[in-house]
Amino acid sequence: MYLIWFITFCLVGLSTQEAVNVSVYYISSCPSSQRFIGSKLHQAYQKLGSEALNVKLYPTIVGYNTYGEEPYISYDIDCINGDEECFANKMQACALHLFGFNENTINFEGCVMSSRQPENKRVVRRCAKKSQIEWSSIKKCINTRGDEILTEIYDEFKELISEIDHFPHIIFNGVYDERTARKASINFLSTVCEMYKEKPAGCDIQKPTA
Ligand SMILES: *[C@@H]1O[C@H](CO)[C@@H](O)[C@H](O)[C@H]1NC(C)=O
Repeated sequence: MYLIWFITFCLVGLSTQEAVNVSVYYISSCPSSQRFIGSKLHQAYQKLGSEALNVKLYPTIVGYNTYGEEPYISYDIDCINGDEECFANKMQACALHLFGFNENTINFEGCVMSSRQPENKRVVRRCAKKSQIEWSSIKKCINTRGDEILTEIYDEFKELISEIDHFPHIIFNGVYDERTARKASINFLSTVCEMYKEKPAGCDIQKPTA
């Protein structure tokens, strides 16, 4: 009897943890996006865990042209910082598309973005291995579906993207708030921790990050 009470209590205890949802639109070669994803977001994610923090990441392009009829023969993709960035974007878009938003891919993103060389294949391969995701599928995807996946992200969020004036663009629980976004870009963990009714363990000790 006691055991049943205990199990029920524990299950209820677990399910009351509401997660904070965060979506981040970013430019892979921008230092501010790299700093945010590679350090602040990733550190907070490691502290809070996937139960408390749902992360969605969107490598963002600013436009594109297509050539030929659908299915298009080729794309001309407009990345803010040119070809290297487009390549980095494709790599990340492929990883997220193939494997979804989960611990492995968020760790992968954290690793790649903290390297400050997201366009460097050797770095990306090392990060993939470290995060237990398959580099060979990402590599294959870059050239076969990379352009298409990037344009799909762009098409899905076109209206939003056209209004973004600086990256990373951070949205909590589906609603953009400029003040919260600015605060989160400075101290992400404390900003998120303020949002929980019941604080997860990762919120216990908070040192402001430099
Ligand atoms: C977070 O997203 C999930 C589905 O993705 C949704 O069910 C939940 O209500 C969202 N949480 C908040 C606080 O908006």
